[in-house]
Amino acid sequence: KKQTQIDHMPDEVILKMFSYFNAQDLCHCACVSSRWNLLAMDGSLWKELRPVQWAKANWDNESTSSDSDDDVDVIEQLLNPVTLDEDADIDESGDWVQSHRCLQIRHELNMLTKMVKYLLPQIGKFVKRCDLAHSCSLTNNLLCKILQLCPNMEYLDVTQSCISDSAFKGMSLNGCGIRLNHLDLSGCINVTDLTLQRIARSQKSVPCKNTMKCCMRSSRKCRKRSAHCSRFKYQSSDGTPDVYKSFEQNKDDNCGQLTKLIDICTPQQFQSITCSELQDWDSSDKKGSTELEMTSVSVCDRSVSQQDKIRTNEDKLRTTKNRNKNAPEDVNNSCGLNSSQGLQYLSLSGCYLITDSGLRFLAEAGLPCLSYLDLSGCLSITSNGLVDLINSCPRLPLKNLYYCDNITNVPFDDIANGCRNLQCKSRVCCRTGE
Ligand code: FES
Repeated sequence: KKQTQIDHMPDEVILKMFSYFNAQDLCHCACVSSRWNLLAMDGSLWKELRPVQWAKANWDNESTSSDSDDDVDVIEQLLNPVTLDEDADIDESGDWVQSHRCLQIRHELNMLTKMVKYLLPQIGKFVKRCDLAHSCSLTNNLLCKILQLCPNMEYLDVTQSCISDSAFKGMSLNGCGIRLNHLDLSGCINVTDLTLQRIARSQKSVPCKNTMKCCMRSSRKCRKRSAHCSRFKYQSSDGTPDVYKSFEQNKDDNCGQLTKLIDICTPQQFQSITCSELQDWDSSDKKGSTELEMTSVSVCDRSVSQQDKIRTNEDKLRTTKNRNKNAPEDVNNSCGLNSSQGLQYLSLSGCYLITDSGLRFLAEAGLPCLSYLDLSGCLSITSNGLVDLINSCPRLPLKNLYYCDNITNVPFDDIANGCRNLQCKSRVCCRTGE
């Protein structure tokens, strides 16, 4: 067999070349030889999936605006759903627009099906981002498989698609969905509380990755933490051999014991702290902690909502307002944590079937890193469910909170934002048409 010069190139060089290729090019390269197939399926080349754009022959990583005229098309599709039947013939004698749309849907469905069948089993575990916004052919079954095949996915956008609760039935199973930090369900009008329950379940099982380790990992165990988890470990940054030191924690006085810990360890020695009780801990009041920034404090325990339940409303309001003063501004990286530590962005805009029960599922799970929450168009929620959820999100700046203007008795009404759907034609809003 005659070999060309390119066959003698090291893998690293070919991989570098492949890194400039788009998904279509990579698929072509994968057909050249078994060696190229292996290299083209390298995980470093498949961080992001954009099958909806690929089906439109938009192979480059150009972002498209979400609130464009496409929204109008999507509304029409929702109102006049087309039966997804791969064997169906296109009615060439009918309306050209209808036929064109059928072709587009079939093409996209074909792309999604083949991606799930052939591509994801090879590269799924490397995928970090999946953009399925404005998909006209995404089905529950396909999304469920995508989530299962991409357990390390951090970004999922299914804006304006027809998915419903069953798409999320595999959440948290085999690590599915536990690394999500950006979830956009805007305009998914079939989503109900059951989806939020499944998302909450996946968030409960988010693994703790901080240097300070709590022996409890799952929420069920964490509820028992005060009974038998009386020891924390902390890691100093000086790199000394005794880098791990144990710290006896008094289960009845966590903040007081934390102060003692800070007294014996200079602030500079801290890399991070993980403790559920720290959400109410004001670092500025503690001796020796002035240089310890709250951004280095994280919450891994999911029993936060249990504590919130026994706090008075006054306490809740005080906590919320204090939090807002120091709230970080960056939506995408506000808490300075590893991106695999829970949801940071959640949009349920236009999901009008969601009720307080769904919000309470999230509140019980606790969303310690959430820094953006859009509940615009959620017509059925009330101030009770909203306050419960907000109090389980210690990192949520109220300026990044959106909800229906008609919800009354919300204690932070003067700080939070109103509904974002007033001017949006494509998402549900109780004031549309006023
Ligand atoms: Fe009530 Fe938009 S949903 S104002």
